[in-house]
Amino acid sequence: MARIKRIATASAPVNIAVVKYWGKKDTKLILPTNDSLSVTLDQDHLRSLTSSAAVEVEEEEEQGESASASAAAAAAAASKDRLWLNGVEEEIGSEGRLRTCIDELRNARRKVEGEDGGVEKIAHLPLHIVSENNFPTAAGLASSASGFAALVWSISSLYQLNSDSGGHLSTSALSRVARQGSGSACRSLFGGFVAWQGGEAKDGSDSLALQVAEREHWKDLHAIICVISDAKKGTPSTAGMQRTVQTSAALQSRISHVVPERMQRITSAIKQRDFDAFAKETMRDSNNFHATCLDTSPPIFYLNDTSRLVIQLVEELNRSSEQAGAGAGAIAAYTFDAGPNAVLYAPEKNVPLVLSLIRHYFPNADFDDPFKLLPSLPRDGLS
Ligand code: PMV
Repeated sequence: MARIKRIATASAPVNIAVVKYWGKKDTKLILPTNDSLSVTLDQDHLRSLTSSAAVEVEEEEEQGESASASAAAAAAAASKDRLWLNGVEEEIGSEGRLRTCIDELRNARRKVEGEDGGVEKIAHLPLHIVSENNFPTAAGLASSASGFAALVWSISSLYQLNSDSGGHLSTSALSRVARQGSGSACRSLFGGFVAWQGGEAKDGSDSLALQVAEREHWKDLHAIICVISDAKKGTPSTAGMQRTVQTSAALQSRISHVVPERMQRITSAIKQRDFDAFAKETMRDSNNFHATCLDTSPPIFYLNDTSRLVIQLVEELNRSSEQAGAGAGAIAAYTFDAGPNAVLYAPEKNVPLVLSLIRHYFPNADFDDPFKLLPSLPRDGLS
């Protein structure tokens, strides 16, 4: 029997990169080969909800106060930590990323308990963690990003480490922990427009997320998620990145010129709410990322025929708008992560046009709840 001593719940949304992270220079610490930038989606559509509880298990013995006793208690508690993901218990491997995140946060709590005798002692208690996504897990919809962000925020709230719960760790500091769960997770700790600064330090101390602009800054920008396939992706991002780092020459130019220059241009496009510039950089980065995947040996194919049709449709839409000469610039932008699903960005006034076009070319698309603006496109392409 386990009795809950203290519990905290947090939710974190998915983020969709407009300048993609692809490649690690340190696979254990998850240090990226390039900076990246994303938009965090609103909470209600794609999010992970996680509760973390410090529990007293019946056979638990009273723990002593000495440093070595507290370290032994933490190790004993770690072996009893448990996680349920979407209702199914998952193993917490002793060397895995989940273990790394939990250990970092538990150690931070132990330190606080050691320094302040008045603080309630809970670091020695096992954690029971329950997490749920409101969308299909591992379908190329960045579930690991929202999942690790919600996990880190809920445990840091339980341990009163984050600034919202009166603790001393900033959101950027916690993003270093989330990063070690899944690289892109560090960006989901912030809302709005978020950069992951790759950093230079070998220990990863400067590899963290920073908010470029709040969501409120550009409220008018919308994301439309087009679920083309909800099957598990063919090449997981970890394996794909490793293969690209080992074999792609194109990755080198991405690291040294393409991304650094694009980060500057897209940051200023966001600051100025310049959708035309934002759209161009977003689409070019998606294409450069997928070209790098194709340059990998053996090549990695994340896009399928339906993805490519969506690209053509958006390109054609933007071209016709340019030709109309209204000076309005791009109507929409597409981007694709490590899977075939499209994310379209568009200013609010263009959303009806984009949706009507999708309806026209994909008449079987499902526009129903729970994904509201998430049309599920036919797998076999246009009809
Ligand atoms: O953090 P991971 O291992 O899920 O990798 C994410 C990689 C991309 O989604 C393709 C790009 C990105 O920056 O999110």
